[in-house]
Amino acid sequence: MTEEIDTDVANDGLAKIKIRGGNPLNGEIPISGAKNAALKLVCAALLTDQELKLSNVPTTLRDMTTLIDLIRYLGAKVDVNDAAKTISIRAIGGAAKTTAPYDLVRKMRASILVLGPMVARHGHAKVSLPGGCAIGSRPVDLHLMGLEAMGAEIKIEDGYVHAAAPEGGLKGTNIVFPKVSVGATEHLLMAACLASGTTTLSNAAMEPEIGDLAECLKKMGAYIEGIGTNKLTIHGVEKLNGTEHAVIPDRIETGTFMIAAALTGGDVTLTGTRANTIDSVIALLRKAGVEVTITGDKIRVKRKDDLKSLRGIDIMTEPYPGFPTDMQAQIMTMLTLCDGAGMVTETIFENRYMHVPELVRMGANIVVQGNSAIVRGVKQLKGAQVMATDLRASVALVIAGLCADGETTVNRIYHLERGYEDIVGKLSAVGADIRSA
Ligand code: UD1
Repeated sequence: MTEEIDTDVANDGLAKIKIRGGNPLNGEIPISGAKNAALKLVCAALLTDQELKLSNVPTTLRDMTTLIDLIRYLGAKVDVNDAAKTISIRAIGGAAKTTAPYDLVRKMRASILVLGPMVARHGHAKVSLPGGCAIGSRPVDLHLMGLEAMGAEIKIEDGYVHAAAPEGGLKGTNIVFPKVSVGATEHLLMAACLASGTTTLSNAAMEPEIGDLAECLKKMGAYIEGIGTNKLTIHGVEKLNGTEHAVIPDRIETGTFMIAAALTGGDVTLTGTRANTIDSVIALLRKAGVEVTITGDKIRVKRKDDLKSLRGIDIMTEPYPGFPTDMQAQIMTMLTLCDGAGMVTETIFENRYMHVPELVRMGANIVVQGNSAIVRGVKQLKGAQVMATDLRASVALVIAGLCADGETTVNRIYHLERGYEDIVGKLSAVGADIRSA
């Protein structure tokens, strides 16, 4: 499910990051496990009463702690080891509650993904509808349509989704998504594992995080075919078991630091990552003039010359394997300093240009028309007070601050903590002048 929601900033509204721009970044940055994979793997733990042990988990991310609070509330026993980056979850059958209340769900829309696993395993569940959202209307109709197609009775009452499986549990069926959805694909994939008979999910999303979830479900005893393609076939089983699974590296964190390195003009190696999950980003960066070298699980990023060696490029966000919407804001920051102009077209979410007015405050030249933005490169950005509005918009402002002239203060960094582990520590370690304030 979508990641940027802004309903709970009150406690953290004053936290900020201060950055003094101009330092080139040099050295190694370790990449964390993927937030968008780890969240779904935690939900998958609700499908079994045995222990699921996850490693390479970005345990300190706010989105992770939010979801952990929710599944603890639902009766799961969870052990988190921040140093080892592991989580063990045991969703003991009898203790499970099946209501996910508004106060826990509203903080993160991905929480809706507990619904399918609970209905599949316990026959019924009640989950609050996620709250409002900063980057578009973001409905959950495809999730509910799929569960209904599997025989569940769905009612929406008092802001809650009530779902009840038919006698004998969810039933396998053929589902064709009218629109590609990462969250709906993952949600129904999980539910289908415990449905009776075979389910096919056509026009399914193909993001690497879905493949990671499917591989873990297979280790848990699920029968899934077509992993990595847009048609998943799931043969339901009666029970799933526990297992151990290492979360894939975060491709969006990887791409974000690649852009930071290219713009500041240093020489940075990202370690513990997987280049083949961000082919589209690497191809575009190379086209813009960034030097990218891949060796095993490392990606080295250098800018060939000064900033003006970077050329403006056009990008359009698309479902995987296209250019990810979660990298759109960061690439836009890069375009503000490239030679010439570039056009950005956002096709996944409406209203995902909230970083634009903030970048303009820093001296960027950007004109938005409908779902496209024309970015004309300027010589220099200037430090300013800016406001983080969602996760990726916030990090785009941090990157802008790293190359701006003077000091930038990014307010409301609450959003950053939802998706970037220790970003201040990781960037300082490679030479950035950045601190929490
Ligand atoms: C996931 C990611 C998010 C990323 C997005 C697209 C997580 C936690 N979040 O979000 O970071 O930006 O994929 O790559 O993994 N839609 C509907 N009805 C639905 C569901 C979605 O109309 O029931 C629409 C959405 O409003 C959006 C589009 O489908 O316009 C794609 O959304 P989706 O792929 O579902 O994104 P999420 O899974 O929410």
